[in-house]
Amino acid sequence: MHLRIATDQPWDVAADVLAIPYVGDPTFDGTLGELDRRSGGELKDLAAFGELSGKRYGVALAAAGDLPHDRLVLVAAGEPASVDREVIHRLGATIERRLGGRTVGRLAVWIGDLGDRIDGGDAAVVELLVRGIVEGHYEPKSIYLDTVENAPPILDELIVVVPGGDATGLARAAERGRIIGEGANTARTLANRASNDVSPEVLADEARAIAERNGLWIDVIEPDRAVALGMGMFIAVGRGSDNPPRMIVMRSGKEGEKDALGRHLAIVGKGVCFDSGGISIKPSDRMEEMKMDKTGAATVIAAIETVARLAPGTPLLAVAPAVENMPGPHSTRPGDVVRALNGKMVDITNTDAEGRLILGDAMTYAEGLGATHLVDVATLTGAVSRALGHLVTGAFGTPQAWLDDVLAAGGRAGERYWQIPLIDDYVADMDSWYGDLQNSGSAEGSLVKSGLFLREFVTRPWVHLDIGGTGYFRKALPFAARGANGVTHATLVELALAGAR
Ligand code: BES
Ligand code: ZN
Ligand code: MN
Repeated sequence: MHLRIATDQPWDVAADVLAIPYVGDPTFDGTLGELDRRSGGELKDLAAFGELSGKRYGVALAAAGDLPHDRLVLVAAGEPASVDREVIHRLGATIERRLGGRTVGRLAVWIGDLGDRIDGGDAAVVELLVRGIVEGHYEPKSIYLDTVENAPPILDELIVVVPGGDATGLARAAERGRIIGEGANTARTLANRASNDVSPEVLADEARAIAERNGLWIDVIEPDRAVALGMGMFIAVGRGSDNPPRMIVMRSGKEGEKDALGRHLAIVGKGVCFDSGGISIKPSDRMEEMKMDKTGAATVIAAIETVARLAPGTPLLAVAPAVENMPGPHSTRPGDVVRALNGKMVDITNTDAEGRLILGDAMTYAEGLGATHLVDVATLTGAVSRALGHLVTGAFGTPQAWLDDVLAAGGRAGERYWQIPLIDDYVADMDSWYGDLQNSGSAEGSLVKSGLFLREFVTRPWVHLDIGGTGYFRKALPFAARGANGVTHATLVELALAGAR
């Protein structure tokens, strides 16, 4: 897809389709008034007919009259007060998805006055719209099917129309948006692929291919070495499957190298290629979704690639413990006691609380490699989706200043988080009869306890992002297909790039 900035007025930029975002109710003065006039009054007619309701992500198609376009696409940004980066990103995706099944080679998007509504101005809008359009193109059915009906169109050219804008600077923003969008889509495909396709070994092979393409260092730890190193929690989960576990470790920059902010940042992602629950087996209802329990790993692997593409050499560590959580004669049993890599004795009272086990060892390992700051991403709990739903990611962490840094990166990325407290008083509920602690206490406060468990395995500033509710969509939305959506990828990229030189 060719990417271009046009600094002319939208009526002077020929394309198959011109997309027109509008905020609140459309008002036909200025540029929108002129577009209406040249469309032969089509836009005002549509408004009078009630097609331009202003409901966020609502889309109307219109005839273009004398304009140099075949069709116009009007997309509503909704209530002005709540238009933010997330909304602008999703407007881009909505436009591209609404064109599903249509023949569109050249798409032009006029940015309207969106640049006045967020800090970062036009450049930020261009980046977010392009990123959204690239992500809007994502179609999970094309992973396994050769032809997909009503798939979003493959564009030859995307033109972002910013009348009077600085073409060079905006072109850079557009390219940045494209690369971040492509990275999110990489994460989505890795996450969406089925468990009979992506085992821990295959995930490691994919990570290796990404490392080779981008000049990243990679180390894949196989079971014998993991045992020798003392990764007792990681092995306890991985041992139940015929598909052996892999601890995937990737790095850009040099070992232990500090970034411009004095950090050696590690991003750690849960890579459960299938979560049956193990011996504490899950009910069959929706168990098929647990192929996506590797979404955290997919996200950190994609994020380090994106960072390598945007700012090669930026110090960053990505660790993805990959396992299959299966029941079988070799599986860990409820009540088994294992030694974690950091020496703690852990009583595995529930084999379905497996994510925290593999992440704990992965984070200890990352600290051993010099990580000074950690962020983990995991489809860790069902509880987070009961608490926050599918549009807000749960965020835990300590100290508060580090959590604030991560949430600020989330704000720049246009991703929403809500803080979950780490209540010290609940630690006692995770006492074990035999070990230092158990991996799952009573159901009460289980979301908080999942974070408290992880905290036992870090000694440095750490944030945990629980994407159990947000990582994949169960039904299609105007701005995204069903399945994995790439959430947190852009946040991790923003966070890492803050330390680029
Ligand atoms: N991968 C699941 C969490 C999950 C469930 C994510 C559904 C998305 C959708 C995780 O490994 C798990 O099983 N968590 C348990 C923890 C409990 C046993 C303490 C849960 O949430 O029920
Ligand atoms: Zn799981
Ligand atoms: Mn589980």
